[in-house]
Amino acid sequence: MARSFAEFGRLPEGPPSEVDMGELVRYTARSSVPPGIALDLQIDENLPRVYGHNGALAGALSNVLLNAVDASGQNGHITVKASVARIGGRDAVRISVADDGKGIAAENLATIWEPYVTNKPGGTGLGLAIARQAVWAHDGTVNATSTLGKGTEIQFTIPANGAGAERID
Ligand SMILES: Nc1ncnc2c1ncn2[C@@H]1O[C@H](COP(=O)(O)OP(=O)(O)O)[C@@H](O)[C@H]1O
Ligand SMILES: [Mg+2]
Repeated sequence: MARSFAEFGRLPEGPPSEVDMGELVRYTARSSVPPGIALDLQIDENLPRVYGHNGALAGALSNVLLNAVDASGQNGHITVKASVARIGGRDAVRISVADDGKGIAAENLATIWEPYVTNKPGGTGLGLAIARQAVWAHDGTVNATSTLGKGTEIQFTIPANGAGAERID
């Protein structure tokens, strides 16, 4: 929790580098989803490499996965996909995390990305704010769809030259 507060409002540190998104998604999903929850990984083979910050992107995905785990309960199913996409005429990677958990009421959906918005006892409300900040730092977009009682899908779309705007050389 202390780490969340320290991270929020900061841009990713260090120089960007080539990130293998398939690898990042596979590793982060396997390490964030506990064994009791069924994990379905669907990773396209020819994903473009993203130029960006590995740690910030893995952290963003991990925050989304932890929410999916929280929402899922014991016999949940989580599907994580990484696919080829386009954003603003550029090659991109789309990452999707779908759960069959409790879902989010329509009136709450718009505010889940805001800092300090939480519906959990002891929650910080910073997980998605940090995730969106990381995706935005890569010139990407976030999206959420949900049906109460059915489940939630969170998507990130990140252009291949993600952190290119920050590049100084
Ligand atoms: N997959 C999900 N299913 C149901 N609710 C979710 C999901 N992801 C996010 N939420 C809602 O969004 C809120 C904000 O999430 P987050 O920013 O990670 O903060 P926290 O997890 O600390 O509450 C959560 O409290 C929860 O109500
Ligand atoms: Mg969270």
